[in-house]
Amino acid sequence: MKKHRMLWLILLVVMDCCLLVCLWIAGREEAVETSGSGIVIGGVSVSGNQAGVAKKKRIALTFDDGPNPKYTQLLLEGLKQRDVKATFFLIGQEVTEHPDIAKQIAKEGHLIGNHSFYHVDLSALSAREVEEQVGRANEVIYEATGTYPQLLRPPFGRIGKHVICEPPMREVLWTIDSRDWELSDVGTIMENVLPNAKEDAIILMHDASFSSVQAALAIIDTLKERGYIFVTVDEILYDED
Ligand code: NI
Repeated sequence: MKKHRMLWLILLVVMDCCLLVCLWIAGREEAVETSGSGIVIGGVSVSGNQAGVAKKKRIALTFDDGPNPKYTQLLLEGLKQRDVKATFFLIGQEVTEHPDIAKQIAKEGHLIGNHSFYHVDLSALSAREVEEQVGRANEVIYEATGTYPQLLRPPFGRIGKHVICEPPMREVLWTIDSRDWELSDVGTIMENVLPNAKEDAIILMHDASFSSVQAALAIIDTLKERGYIFVTVDEILYDED
């Protein structure tokens, strides 16, 4: 009888230990799942519910020359439907004419950069003129959106010879040129982009025509199916540093 009691006691202790271990493991798993803003994958901090998509390939869409009174809002609507954020390099003069659209771009979570005030070749200007072009565009973008841009896309991709602006702005070019500004055929614009798509690519487009907007949205749909995730260009630039 005494022997039996001993065996029962040992069995109970073993079962208790098992239960404790199980509870400890379950607690750990729950802690990982619910740590809303702190998982680091490959050096990129992502929130808990984005962790599942962190392995997707990043790519950035950039749109130059806006805000455009005819097409920017059409594009914004398409981006919103797809839950995609993009980067818009705005021309200062266009912002003074359409400040509400610039404000809407910012409000909807897209990144805004500077594309000079009059869309001029910065490489042909003096240091003072470059500063005026860039500084003036920064001011009107700030007035419309409440944020100073930190990125500059020099018109025609021609970088200014002079060190410019205080604080200095980072110049951003692109790795894929859609050539949408000279094309009206949606299929051809897509063909210029899709075969060249790869992780961390920066795509140059313009929200300046219906075909550009159509192509951009079709490019998003196709690349999403191929496992790409669309990010603003700063996410790619600053992650490379
Ligand atoms: Ni341009």
